[in-house]
Amino acid sequence: MSEHGSAKPTKGILLAGGSGTRLHPMTLAVSKQLLPVYDKPMIFYPLSTLMLAGIRDIMIISTPADLPLFRRLLGDGADMGVTFTYREQPAPDGIAQAFVIADDWLDDSPCGLILGDNLIFADHLGKQMRAAATRPSGATVFAYQVRDPERYGVVSFGEDGHAIDIVEKPTEPKSNWAVTGLYFYDGRVREYARSLRPSPRGELEITDLNRLYLQSDELHVQRLGRGCAWLDAGMPDSLMQAGQFVQTIQSRQGLLVGSPHEVAFRMGFIDAAGLEAYARRMIKTELGQALMAIAHGEG
Ligand code: TTP
Repeated sequence: MSEHGSAKPTKGILLAGGSGTRLHPMTLAVSKQLLPVYDKPMIFYPLSTLMLAGIRDIMIISTPADLPLFRRLLGDGADMGVTFTYREQPAPDGIAQAFVIADDWLDDSPCGLILGDNLIFADHLGKQMRAAATRPSGATVFAYQVRDPERYGVVSFGEDGHAIDIVEKPTEPKSNWAVTGLYFYDGRVREYARSLRPSPRGELEITDLNRLYLQSDELHVQRLGRGCAWLDAGMPDSLMQAGQFVQTIQSRQGLLVGSPHEVAFRMGFIDAAGLEAYARRMIKTELGQALMAIAHGEG
């Protein structure tokens, strides 16, 4: 264990606030992260991702208006074998503000953060994430090649493959590697987050936090390859595409995508009886029937 190492279990933050202006009028009355992506609410997908990383203590952050709806949907987490804590973000003042909001709850635990509209599907992602979540020191982010890097934080690499720079929404991107909305940090994250100041656009920027780790040579950038899908469901087209992607895989393979209850069962957070109890409540749906089959060892 390094000097910054922490024996504490990694906590998780699911950031599901924002104003969703690119999805108006759909998001005038309800949070983007509660909209359906095929057969589940959007938030189920990033939640499943966090749980696949082995994280069981999760803070859900959203707007004051939407937080009660998330609480109604997800409850205390007992049916998934996890614990949810809910906290408000009064205004969308930046992704890195999550760590300021969570400061006392975090204590000096390591933490994974995922954005509520980020859907990531990749073989071996669970393994990669568990490695990142248990890394004794430093931060890990995941990079993905995109056609429109200027919309994202962009990371550039030196000849030896090491990350050398990371820039938020550059007008002239130095690479097409975008940083995805899934991040892991060691126990120093709240200290670093406290030192951040709002950017010219008035937000506490996650890219500035990542740069602090990069400057101390402690930012690990894992590249996600071709076989991986990273979708941010923040616009009508991408929302539709995400739904179609999930529908295609589920109907072709007969496997579920983004079911936190299935993940809970496979990770050993709940037992077959727990999964069956949840599946029974959903039994009129294909999702419920698929979960029931998994509980009976048929999935
Ligand atoms: P964005 O897509 O950047 O913002 P948004 O959700 O408000 O959407 P729009 O651009 O259409 O107005 O946010 C990315 C994710 O991060 C999304 O899941 C919302 C979340 N988020 C917060 O919860 N709080 C914040 O302060 C910010 C900046 C984002």
